[in-house]
Amino acid sequence: MRRPIVAGNWKMHGTRADNARLIEELLAGHPGRAAAECLVFPPFVYLQDVARLLREAPIGLGAQSVCAEAQGAFTGEVSAAMLKDVGCSHVLVGHSERRWLYHEDDPLVARKFAAAQAKSLVPILCVGEHLEERESGRTEQVVARQLDVVLDLCGVGALESAVIAYEPIWAIGTGRTATPQQAQAVHAFIRERIAERDAKIAEATRVLYGGSVKASNAAELFAQPDVDGGLVGGASLNAEEFLAILAACGSR
Ligand code: 13P
Repeated sequence: MRRPIVAGNWKMHGTRADNARLIEELLAGHPGRAAAECLVFPPFVYLQDVARLLREAPIGLGAQSVCAEAQGAFTGEVSAAMLKDVGCSHVLVGHSERRWLYHEDDPLVARKFAAAQAKSLVPILCVGEHLEERESGRTEQVVARQLDVVLDLCGVGALESAVIAYEPIWAIGTGRTATPQQAQAVHAFIRERIAERDAKIAEATRVLYGGSVKASNAAELFAQPDVDGGLVGGASLNAEEFLAILAACGSR
């Protein structure tokens, strides 16, 4: 059984006051022992604050990116050890906004994945295609390439302590969610691709869907057999909405 995950990527939003309010509301409404694992990904500067607010709460903490290098003269970067030090358990790697706005390529994403695991952080590897790639029938090719580069560097065994998120770029922040069938097809493809290397690991790996997940569409997405939860952007900034998504995931 794969325990589903609902993860909130706050992106570059919020203030200390907003975060305190959001966490307070999440803690007030969190069902305690939700069936789904719940994680939040605040901006770097607020990680320590949010770690303190979460204390013993059943909500995990992650960062939105990590440096591929362990330490040294890398101005503006944050290492995996630092993230661990301030209380993170997870980190996003290869989010499409990092890939396309900040030119992070597949080999760099793979090195970030490895750097995270070297410090026992669980990487959430984000993959996904542009609209023109989908429209020209190249979705599987793109997703396979993004996945294979990581598996070639780290080995399929690395997925035993990692998570994958399928985030079609055309569905991110656009309100245009993939249909449950579109999501399921790519999730099944990702699982098959992993199974070519190791069937048992493929069966156990959690694959999240991201891209305009809302309370109103979460249940039908999470009902798909290969969709193991969601990576939520905009809707994770609203406690009521995020808790409803968590409930939809826990009830599948
Ligand atoms: P939205 O839910 O705002 O579309 O963002 C998805 C995303 O990029 C999560 O990482």
